[in-house]
Amino acid sequence: MDEFPGRTGFLRTTGTNIGECKENRVLSLGESLRIVEAYSTGSAREFLTEAAMAATKITPSHNGPLRVEGDFEIVDPGGKPFGLAGRTKISLCRCGHSANKPFCDGTHKVVGFTDEVHARDLPPPAPPVPKP
Ligand code: FES
Repeated sequence: MDEFPGRTGFLRTTGTNIGECKENRVLSLGESLRIVEAYSTGSAREFLTEAAMAATKITPSHNGPLRVEGDFEIVDPGGKPFGLAGRTKISLCRCGHSANKPFCDGTHKVVGFTDEVHARDLPPPAPPVPKP
């Protein structure tokens, strides 16, 4: 077992400027060591951003929704958060037929939505267009 019980919130309690990091969990020994190393090399901000990203998992289902779990927030285009009533897992519609978008309501089964999902590498992003 490589965890430190009782170290929940370590990232918050260090008193450092990690405002965008919403971590609040027990850290593994490896994560703790990487934090110490990151601080000693000056790359802590990149590590913490990476750690925050890893706290959210999105899984596209075969023939179904996007399953989102972990530390996340869903907001409308104006930035107003949806009230999720404490849910830490939710399914987002990707078939386009839910009557409760952006959430899945199971209609994908009724309409026979099909899309097999297999992880792959994306091409590099297009370079930014220079502004005139
Ligand atoms: S994916 Fe379930 S209703 Fe669209």
